[in-house]
Amino acid sequence: MLIGDRAEWKGRAMEHIVILTGAGVSAESGLGTFRDVDGLWTKYDLADVATPEGYAKNPDLVLDFYNARRRNCVEAAPNPAHEALARLAAAREVTLITQNIDDLHERGGSPSVIHMHGEIMRALCASCGHRWAWQGDMSRADTCPSCAADGTVRPDVVWFGEVPYAMRSIGDAIARASLFVAIGTSGAVYPAAGFVAEAAARGIETVEINLEPSDVAGQFDRRILGKASETVPRFVEEVLGG
Ligand code: OAD
Repeated sequence: MLIGDRAEWKGRAMEHIVILTGAGVSAESGLGTFRDVDGLWTKYDLADVATPEGYAKNPDLVLDFYNARRRNCVEAAPNPAHEALARLAAAREVTLITQNIDDLHERGGSPSVIHMHGEIMRALCASCGHRWAWQGDMSRADTCPSCAADGTVRPDVVWFGEVPYAMRSIGDAIARASLFVAIGTSGAVYPAAGFVAEAAARGIETVEINLEPSDVAGQFDRRILGKASETVPRFVEEVLGG
């Protein structure tokens, strides 16, 4: 389904495209989304596994949760949506922002990805703030290579109550964008859900590509509904063809 065809667009040159992705872009790679019927937040309590308080209360539960996410990520492969976005970045100026902690955009060929909610394949020392690449399971026995503290190693992911990464760069990118596209995100979590309003306030063209209308669907100029593996390659061909 498509609302608003290309002829109705405001006709701006697509010079700088800002793309925001969410769990829906990786769903067909076998990684679970959060808020769909069988999503992760129907099986786990977000407060237990995705907050600093949850980690303080039961670190082993939290580390196990992310160890499972990391194993799933390693087993998953990029799908045609990730690959199409890499083709777009090769041909246009693209700022790719993802809420996803997986590395499927990078493995799909995207040269530069802003992980505003962090990365599962990286670690963070809760004591000194050092961040480094991480493979395999994580436990409380692990030591920070920078400050040598024990029991302070955690996944480098942003939890509820923490500030997402790169907010200044994201704001700058939206300020000079000519097109904003959100893909596979429910629009339930801020600040990411607020990017469309920021773009719209600046008169930037906005497009939502999702399986169903998101919580903020009404704020977009155009909507494309369907599976990301089909809709995103089609959309990219349309942009490149134009
Ligand atoms: P959600 O699970 O909230 O939303 C995923 C969206 O993708 C839904 O709107 C689905 O309809 C859509 N979707 C599912 N399968 C799809 C497919 N094959 N093609 C296209 N769309 C599809 O995930 P996010 O919006 O990414 O944060 O969630 C945002 C944040 O909430 C996450 O980064 C995470 C979570 O709690 C933290 O943990 C901090």
